[in-house]
Amino acid sequence: MPDKPLAIVTRRLPASILDQIRVAAEMRLWDDDDPIPPATLREWVPGVQGLYCLLTDPVDAVLLDAAGSSLKVVSQMAVGYDNIDVAACTARGIPVGNTPGVLTETTADLAVALMLATARRLVEAAEYLKAGKWATWRPMELTGFDVSGSTVGIVGFGRIGKAVARRLRGFGCRILYHDPAPDPDAGSLGASFVNFDTLLKSSDFITLHVPLTDDTRGLIGQAELAQMKPEAVLINTSRGPVLDQDALLAALRAGQIAGAGLDVTTPEPLPADHPLLDLPNVVVLPHIGSASRATRLRMAQLAVDNLLAGLRGERLPHCANPEVYE
Ligand code: DGY
Repeated sequence: MPDKPLAIVTRRLPASILDQIRVAAEMRLWDDDDPIPPATLREWVPGVQGLYCLLTDPVDAVLLDAAGSSLKVVSQMAVGYDNIDVAACTARGIPVGNTPGVLTETTADLAVALMLATARRLVEAAEYLKAGKWATWRPMELTGFDVSGSTVGIVGFGRIGKAVARRLRGFGCRILYHDPAPDPDAGSLGASFVNFDTLLKSSDFITLHVPLTDDTRGLIGQAELAQMKPEAVLINTSRGPVLDQDALLAALRAGQIAGAGLDVTTPEPLPADHPLLDLPNVVVLPHIGSASRATRLRMAQLAVDNLLAGLRGERLPHCANPEVYE
């Protein structure tokens, strides 16, 4: 019987997931709910064949070099993979797995929930009640903005952006979107392609659904915020650095826009004393876009499927760098 390949798993996962890896590989598990320290991961990687990692683990050229030529697959339990130097993986012939599709609906649910929570001041209102401040029903107390009938600008019209559009049709929204090119699905979703400036100027809600790349880092900064309507609400469920957070803070303080709902921040976790958290018109969540139990299990499973395929030398079911096979 040939020796099993060696695979690192960088976080504690449900037993049903770990058991599948154990059957196929010698597993070195970081059995903790907090991330493995990068220095420990570097000590662990020499000679491994597989790496099952999370978006909190930097996978860079230094780590890949420490792993050496034995490494056959990097499998990330997330759709986004900006923590991984994919070009460095490709250069070394290593396929990178990710988990698209299985989290689309759950993340779109959260984006719309965040839109409603921010616009209708749900967190602020619940805190108000808990603090015993609710004295009586007052005509204009805790009034917010309607999502129904509003104009929503979707930046990034991929799977999740489209799933958000599908939901918002039910709210009677006018849907604008911007992407590098018009999308053939847009017509059936009632969404209109516009240039970025038009989207910024015309939308009551702007929701970000782009991956973090060199092109999208800082996509929304001071100049973009300045173009938005004073009653605009900005929603980010993609990656924190897509947004210049200092510029957002300044815009919110100046009343340049009306509010923000953020599921992702810079850094993560956002420190509890961060000034954004003092603003009543900002709702910040701890990166829970895909956090339904069923979806997280599906992501973990797909990452296992990718890992095991890579260890067997087969093509990954979902590969972020298919060029590695050319
Ligand atoms: C991802 O998968 O990239 C999300 O940010 C976490 O689900």
